[in-house]
Amino acid sequence: MLSFFKKKPSLFELLPSGFVDIHSHVLPGLDDGSKNTTQSVELIQGMEKLGFSELIATPHTMTGVWENTSEDIKYSWTSLQEAQGLNIPLSYASEYLLDNAFLERMQEGDLLCLKDRMVLVELSYFQAPINLFEILFELQLKGYIPVLAHPERYAYYFSDFKVFQQLKKAGCMFQLNLMSVVGHYGPESLKISEALLNANLIDYVGSDIHHKGHLDCFQRKVQVKNIEALKQTMAANAFFSEKA
Ligand SMILES: [Fe+2]
Repeated sequence: MLSFFKKKPSLFELLPSGFVDIHSHVLPGLDDGSKNTTQSVELIQGMEKLGFSELIATPHTMTGVWENTSEDIKYSWTSLQEAQGLNIPLSYASEYLLDNAFLERMQEGDLLCLKDRMVLVELSYFQAPINLFEILFELQLKGYIPVLAHPERYAYYFSDFKVFQQLKKAGCMFQLNLMSVVGHYGPESLKISEALLNANLIDYVGSDIHHKGHLDCFQRKVQVKNIEALKQTMAANAFFSEKA
């Protein structure tokens, strides 16, 4: 009865113990995230303070913008291992834009995975590839499982909610950005986040932290009403724990 008066929790307060983040840009010098080792250490320490227990860093791989190879990413990760002051386990994968170079990598089997054969992919914010469903099909033929980053951020799907159901049916998993539920990406993303949670379409969550300003978002109040569904998806990230 008193739920109406209940105080909204801050985002960081909802993180379960042992929380594993599967999406961030904390590796130095690869993309629009951390620029150098000092920034990486600051970010990772900030995340640890907020309650993150393990991280899988996922720098962008995007033709013409951030043309990272698997070796580049591994090199950046290795260099960070030598830094002082890091206390939580950190592994690496990538957030791949579904472009032509991605298709080549897929054919060569050269994709860095979150775990097993699960690969984090993103779409352009302007339009999805015309052959998106074919790509998803091909990926799975190659034995990969696509995990779509932040489905709630693709504005061209906002008026077409059924496409989310179709993507799930096509074998795509969904990773919600945590900052979406505090309204960081605007009211429309927040609304779609709530709808995706209510429809039980979200599999996992990720921070998508790029810089220190993003850490502050975790102090903000959670705006979605379905806190239970959000907590469940946060708990589901335990699947990615190195200890699992
Ligand atoms: Fe990202």
